[in-house]
Amino acid sequence: MRGIDHEGQPRPRLWDQFLALDVWRQAPFTRTMLRRLKALVSPFVPQAVRDVRTQLMQARFARLSREAAFSEVYSKNLWGGDQGEFCSGTGSGPEFSQPYVDRIRQWLADEGTRSVVDVGCGDFRVGAQLVSPALDYTGVDIVGALVRRNQERFGAENIRFVQLDVAEQRPPQADVALVRQVLQHLSNVEIARVLENCAHYPHLVVTEHVFTGADAKYNVDKPHGPFNRATSKSGVFLDQPPFSLPCEVLLEVDHGPDQVLRTVVIAQHGARR
Ligand SMILES: C[S@@+](CC[C@H](N)C(=O)[O-])C[C@H]1O[C@@H](n2cnc3c(N)ncnc32)[C@H](O)[C@@H]1O
Repeated sequence: MRGIDHEGQPRPRLWDQFLALDVWRQAPFTRTMLRRLKALVSPFVPQAVRDVRTQLMQARFARLSREAAFSEVYSKNLWGGDQGEFCSGTGSGPEFSQPYVDRIRQWLADEGTRSVVDVGCGDFRVGAQLVSPALDYTGVDIVGALVRRNQERFGAENIRFVQLDVAEQRPPQADVALVRQVLQHLSNVEIARVLENCAHYPHLVVTEHVFTGADAKYNVDKPHGPFNRATSKSGVFLDQPPFSLPCEVLLEVDHGPDQVLRTVVIAQHGARR
């Protein structure tokens, strides 16, 4: 029974009170303070508590559509940045992206690449360092608001952004598809669909955050969402079942103990155009 208050009105349900709390949490100042507080407290939270929290969040994101899930990741700044900004995470910052940019620019030049599609282009911090007047660039992402913002800020004759769910739709033709830190946020079934929708590219260049310790487990499944597989001592290894693709390692960038951002090239010689 909910009961009534002293004015004879029904008392608010616990759930309504929780929703009201969420409205309160939307206030920019409060959200910034909460984030700082969380960063301060975080090192003292036992791993078991963190694991449970991760599981609960994973379960919640799994119930959302892919588009809703990644839109929420950005709108709640779960990958960082200030409120109201789009941020694709620390992996897109200079520490991790610079070695990638140097290596990929060289590789694209060596291959005589004239066009790329950046699948899951995110906030374009990485893509922006790859574009040149001689390269036709299309950034594709599932988050509509992010695609519109990228197009407004960075669109040019040879640079455009398109909203697509690559697990459902085939992205436009190009010489090369770059897929950087995208598959790691999808389930194995969704990854297989993305690979099928990208079968028309002569080359796929895929970068994944993987755990490389002796006890690493390949391709442990997870639902789509903000987390990757590194915390479960796993990662997306496209050369291993259930994908078993021929991969050539182009680059590895250290990302903490027994973890790297590994970039592989998959040559799809029979690519359908
Ligand atoms: C961690 S960010 C990486 C962004 C960028 N590739 C980089 O390295 O800076 C992953 C991006 O993939 C996008 N994404 C996830 N699933 C997608 C899908 N099915 N189709 C298109 N984009 C997707 C997300 O919205 C997000 O912007």
